[in-house]
Amino acid sequence: MDRLTLITACVPPCRRLIDVGSDHATVPISLLKRGTCKQVLITDIHRGPIEMARRRITEAGLLNVSRFVLTDGLDDITPEEGDVLLISGLGGENIADILERGYHKLSRFDRLILQPQTKDNLLRSAIDRLSLTLLDERVAVEDRRPYLVIICDSSTRASCIRLSPIQLEFGPKILERFEKLIQISPQLPELNINVKAAIDELSTLELLDPQDRARLVYLLFKFDKIARRAPFHIQDQVLLKSFDKWFLSLF
Ligand SMILES: C[S@@+](CC[C@H](N)C(=O)[O-])C[C@H]1O[C@@H](n2cnc3c(N)ncnc32)[C@H](O)[C@@H]1O
Repeated sequence: MDRLTLITACVPPCRRLIDVGSDHATVPISLLKRGTCKQVLITDIHRGPIEMARRRITEAGLLNVSRFVLTDGLDDITPEEGDVLLISGLGGENIADILERGYHKLSRFDRLILQPQTKDNLLRSAIDRLSLTLLDERVAVEDRRPYLVIICDSSTRASCIRLSPIQLEFGPKILERFEKLIQISPQLPELNINVKAAIDELSTLELLDPQDRARLVYLLFKFDKIARRAPFHIQDQVLLKSFDKWFLSLF
């Protein structure tokens, strides 16, 4: 499943979707055509992308159910204007900044669908700081590169337990699924196993759910990236050590 198809699949039926940083408006067009949402509010910080979105919406014959706002993040959006918030294709730090600046408006949304292109750890930190409930983490793989989609409920989470450094980096839901897969895979040798060998082994399972397969691609991608940086960064060495400790505790 490619990135935009996964994002589209993550949006629940809604009255009005707000798509922040919409640009080409592919996702809102597809959601309106399917009837997943009745109306869309399309925003962008730049005039060019807003005009492109307007042109594409007009060509699709959906102008009567669409509104356009030129604004930075949620600045000129009133909370009543939508029930699902989508922010996709922006850097994780940019999405984090939009959520933190617009925090007082977030509780009005039933769902937040967030797709960071980079720095997903910074986005998870913001979600954690804002006490949003992280419901799921899904992954699309396009040209062998994983793209993460984080689904949040804007209600404040009941637990005050903060995410650990490895949860911030690899994702609490991604790790939860990894742990489940290890538990249900008797063929994993219990001795001398390392994380990469376990991911490789699990990836060969024939009956593996496609979403779990994509999550393993994400895990391996992140793991390799951190391992490459580790010789030069003490923080990454500490992170890998904590990950290994957690991994060994699963057996
Ligand atoms: C790479 S495009 C992503 C388009 C689409 N959402 C997607 O997922 O493919 C990023 C868009 O976000 C817009 N953008 C960046 N920062 C923004 C902000 N703070 N508020 C609103 N839009 C922003 C950019 O102008 C650009 O059009």
